[in-house]
Amino acid sequence: MEKRIAVLPGDGVGKEVSRGAVSILRAVGELYGHKFQFLYGDIGGGAIDEFGTPLPQQTIDLCKASDAVLLGAVGGPKWDMLPGHLRPEKGLLKIRKDLGLYGNVRPVQYYSSISGVSPLRKEVIEGADMVVVRELTGGLYFGKPSERTMKKGEASVVDTLFYQKKEIERVIRYAFKLASSRRGKVTSVDKANVLESSRMWRETAEEVAKDFPQVQLEHMLVDNAAMQLIKNPRQFDVIVTENMFGDILSDEASVLTGSLGMLPSASVSVDGPYLYEPIHGSAPDIAGQNTANPIAMILSAAMMLRMSFGMEEEAEAVENAVIQVLDAGSRTRDIADFGNVPVTTEEMVEEIKAVLLDHEAICNIMSAYA
Ligand code: IPM
Ligand code: MG
Repeated sequence: MEKRIAVLPGDGVGKEVSRGAVSILRAVGELYGHKFQFLYGDIGGGAIDEFGTPLPQQTIDLCKASDAVLLGAVGGPKWDMLPGHLRPEKGLLKIRKDLGLYGNVRPVQYYSSISGVSPLRKEVIEGADMVVVRELTGGLYFGKPSERTMKKGEASVVDTLFYQKKEIERVIRYAFKLASSRRGKVTSVDKANVLESSRMWRETAEEVAKDFPQVQLEHMLVDNAAMQLIKNPRQFDVIVTENMFGDILSDEASVLTGSLGMLPSASVSVDGPYLYEPIHGSAPDIAGQNTANPIAMILSAAMMLRMSFGMEEEAEAVENAVIQVLDAGSRTRDIADFGNVPVTTEEMVEEIKAVLLDHEAICNIMSAYA
């Protein structure tokens, strides 16, 4: 197959991990006879420096003309003082809106080989396997008005939580479809005891549930969900929630298994290209040091192979190579236990690539960490 992939490395470690993912994808192309074309674009702080805007029009055009988008990360202290509309994060919000990426899909999976780095005891986290589906283009992030006012010397401020019912329905439907192909349970998270928007969310979930009799629906208040995630993470299969709740809960969920550096994500749209990004940020404190964990980005690329290109076998090959390298004992700094000598970003990429291209390679890697 021939595919055009827009690569937006962004800022900080985004650049290093994107390089890693592209190198793995080249190996996949070689192995399975696919022609991947990588087209690079600017976003975030780098784009502000070069073009005066966090998301130049040519980047949007490039993404729209591609089969999928791979994004590294945006942001850094250099741009923290800029006004809201000029911050690197604005580039991320705008690309979500412009590409109509209404749902963010974040799978959280337990890896037995790194159970030691989870903040939870092994008995609690073992076997956890859930997906957080977060609404991504509505709610508090985009509602208007969002502004400060000054009347009679009194300052006030407003942000707006606005949803059209069809936006709520669309993302809940996605979650139900996903749950049908998994363990058949949807937990819809809201704050229906307080917010009107949440009451509409809950009603809509009930309506969508009628079309999926094989899927069990439960409602959970967001404060309780935050607690249940740490108390009993195994109870969850698919969680679906609005933008702001999803932002918070998906970070919480992602770290349960040990490190943000391990978690991929996909953002889906109705008919445009999907966007894939690691859930970690640009980590300015370690940028440029060749120590970032490239696995979240590599697993995001695997999600792209599966969800955008229908390359199930290729996606599994990448995921298995990651598992094998972890099982063999290779660790970047964020997932290193006592006694592990961490590998660099590039070394981790090379090991995953070696296992992907040659099954014998794992023996050498195992003996290196024995
Ligand atoms: C995320 C991030 C972004 C968000 C920031 C960087 C704007 O935290 O993708 O979860 O809040 O959506
Ligand atoms: Mg977030």
